[in-house]
Amino acid sequence: MTTTPITTSLIATLPGPYYTDPDVFRQEQERVFESMWFCAVRSSDLDRPGAFRTVQVGRESVIITRTRKGELRAFLNVCRHRGARLCTEESGEIRRTLQCPYHAWTYDLDGKLIAAPNLIKMPDVDRVAYGLINVALREWLGYAWVCLADDPPSFEDTVLHAAVERLGDVAAIDHYGTENLALGKRITYDVQANWKLIVENFMECYHCATIHPELTEVLPEFADGYAAQYYVGHGARFGDEVKGFTVDGSEGFGRLPEVSAEQDRRYYAITVKPTVFVNLVPDHVVLHRMFPLAEDRTVVECDWLYAPDVVQSGTDVTKSVELFHRVNVQDFAACERTQPAMASRAYREGGVLVPNEHHIQIFHEWLVERLGGAHAGPVH
Ligand code: FES
Ligand code: FE
Repeated sequence: MTTTPITTSLIATLPGPYYTDPDVFRQEQERVFESMWFCAVRSSDLDRPGAFRTVQVGRESVIITRTRKGELRAFLNVCRHRGARLCTEESGEIRRTLQCPYHAWTYDLDGKLIAAPNLIKMPDVDRVAYGLINVALREWLGYAWVCLADDPPSFEDTVLHAAVERLGDVAAIDHYGTENLALGKRITYDVQANWKLIVENFMECYHCATIHPELTEVLPEFADGYAAQYYVGHGARFGDEVKGFTVDGSEGFGRLPEVSAEQDRRYYAITVKPTVFVNLVPDHVVLHRMFPLAEDRTVVECDWLYAPDVVQSGTDVTKSVELFHRVNVQDFAACERTQPAMASRAYREGGVLVPNEHHIQIFHEWLVERLGGAHAGPVH
């Protein structure tokens, strides 16, 4: 077990304007969300050719769809003719072809321009060159991750690295077989807070004893305020009386087949920067995807994933879902309570991190570096 060196000093947080300044948010859109791999959609949501989902990635709307060959593809949601938004719905089904509602340019599911009124009179229009703009896509954990960068960073070094960094071994996450699990429940939270407050909150457990009574019942060590993320490879142990990761500690479901004895009766949490949290317990996985929409607004989609037979048999997952749903509601209320104060003169220089929050400083340093070391730049 690797331990984070413990010092007793207080460390400054980012100054308040980092959470309120639209210029900072615009830089984050460009240098974080549009530059890194971004978890967009559960692959199984697009279960047939033509099924699509649109998501906001930084400043861009992206369409993700499944081709006739069954592959997932992602495109900018912009018609190449005069720029009309192609899909205005958040999800739906493209029937055979994608036709722009403005002048009816028509694209196939591979993004190729296949028809346009009077195009016959313009034979030299290159139908590939005027096809939809392709967006890089990779699948991991049963999700489509997209990257808007011209030259995407290595998926292995950036995304998969998070699992190694946290669990010490990427195979440890594979034991949960997340890509093969079925969606038991999805709840979408519209949080009136900056995305970084949500990340910081997820990374620490100093607040657990105060706001998470149900969670600390199930994971008693959380009452001490040390997050599962504090130590590499550490999973928080279930309380002795606890039967399962449920709202009242009652029995959950059978352990997922590959989960090791060492992982049994433990909770692991992974932050995959910039916008994903993965929570692993023996019988299910809870995965959060954030969609930062403004400096003070973040939509969070949270999926509860179970063994397919649990979902197919119609087994009641309410008590299992309710535990993390309560945690989410408690956490997001705390973030919303904090957001307005970020604009206060009291927070102009920021606040402090106590020792068991010190690992959040690494997140702050990472962010400042991504923004080009602009710590003292656009914020005042
Ligand atoms: Fe799409 Fe003209 S803008 S066809
Ligand atoms: Fe919390």
